[in-house]
Amino acid sequence: MTTVGLIGTGYIGPIHLGALRRLEGIQIKAVCDANLELARQTAKRYDVPRACSNYLDVLNDDSIDVIHNCTPNKYHYTINKQAIERGKHVLAEKPLAMNLAEAGELVELADKKGVVNGVNFCYRYYPVVQEMAVRIKRGDLGDVRMVSGSYYQDWLSRVTDYSWRLERKESGDSNITADLGSHWFDLLQFVTGLSVNEVMGDFATLLPKRKKPRKQVLAFEKASDAGTEDVDIELEDYSAVLFRLSNGAPGSFSTCQACAGRKSDTEFQVYGSKCSFAWNHKRSTELWIGHREKPNELLVESPFLQDQSTARYATLPAGHPLGYHDAEMNLFGDFYNAIRGNTVIPPISRPVFKTGYDEMKILDAVIASNKQRQWKRVAW
Ligand SMILES: NC(=O)c1ccc[n+]([C@@H]2O[C@H](COP(=O)([O-])OP(=O)(O)OC[C@H]3O[C@@H](n4cnc5c(N)ncnc54)[C@H](O)[C@@H]3O)[C@@H](O)[C@H]2O)c1
Repeated sequence: MTTVGLIGTGYIGPIHLGALRRLEGIQIKAVCDANLELARQTAKRYDVPRACSNYLDVLNDDSIDVIHNCTPNKYHYTINKQAIERGKHVLAEKPLAMNLAEAGELVELADKKGVVNGVNFCYRYYPVVQEMAVRIKRGDLGDVRMVSGSYYQDWLSRVTDYSWRLERKESGDSNITADLGSHWFDLLQFVTGLSVNEVMGDFATLLPKRKKPRKQVLAFEKASDAGTEDVDIELEDYSAVLFRLSNGAPGSFSTCQACAGRKSDTEFQVYGSKCSFAWNHKRSTELWIGHREKPNELLVESPFLQDQSTARYATLPAGHPLGYHDAEMNLFGDFYNAIRGNTVIPPISRPVFKTGYDEMKILDAVIASNKQRQWKRVAW
């Protein structure tokens, strides 16, 4: 049995717990949240024997092998670091840390201590996203010529909507580019195998004044029933990035949390010299393959129609759609295989701390570019 302690039981924590309970050989020993009542409710819902409010109680428990860090960005570095120092394997939420220096330190420390590490870039674990990566790698697309995409949400589109993500002290120097941009650039680099080399970022704060609730509000939760105070918002809720990939191909990405009607709409398109690939989270089971000289194709996730290296992520017979919970489970499955040294079927590429660090490099360049109003090179 591999034993787990999970810290942060707000929005994403319970999603980790649900996926963990579906994997073999895992025992969740404790959950922790600064809000003890929330930790207790979560422990009850997921049959976890212990709930606490001080994360050190989990980190100091020698019977726990793995830490899932599901706290806000501000605590990623501290908790990840202390977990590694105690020899625990860590599955961290994204972004890996508040800034590049913290992220770099975590990569070094994890290497030094030899612990298995991972970052929850879960969107790449949809079966057909994995399939797209394999097909691009084997040359189906030809050369990558141009890429584009977006990630839109609406849960912060009203002045009464609020999240710690909007505060620099909780989030770092970026809200949405760190939050949603990190997922999107991970997807893009993962499927193309190319890196983002140059960026031109443009941020905007569409709602510069908000009503901050006086009580705790979890991600996606409505804040309207709490008393509020008026606050100024510094961080961006809109971001657009023009960029160049390592092969010179141009790309563009935009993201915003104030798009009424858009819930978690992320999509990306890769245009190559032979054909095109596109994926949209709203139709996450479908890989669109665009052709010039013959009809376009739609590959629906399937253990029989996908490459043998990605078929195992399509865990149900074709026609039974998988979703977000399954993408999480796929990622965790590879993470726990790595802990057990099970490399029978190696994952194409699992997101590790170095992946999170690389994402922070892109973010750093985008932040600097927006500030200085000019193109910036990513410091690879
Ligand atoms: N991979 C994904 O798809 C995904 C999705 C959502 C969030 N996230 C990431 O997960 C992290 C958490 O986001 P969320 O949406 O769940 O936020 P949230 O506000 O809903 O939940 C965070 C929880 O952490 C608890 N917490 C805060 N400080 C703590 C501490 N010191 N010790 C223990 N608990 C503490 C809070 O009480 C809260 O319950 C963020 O870094 C976010 O970027 C990732």
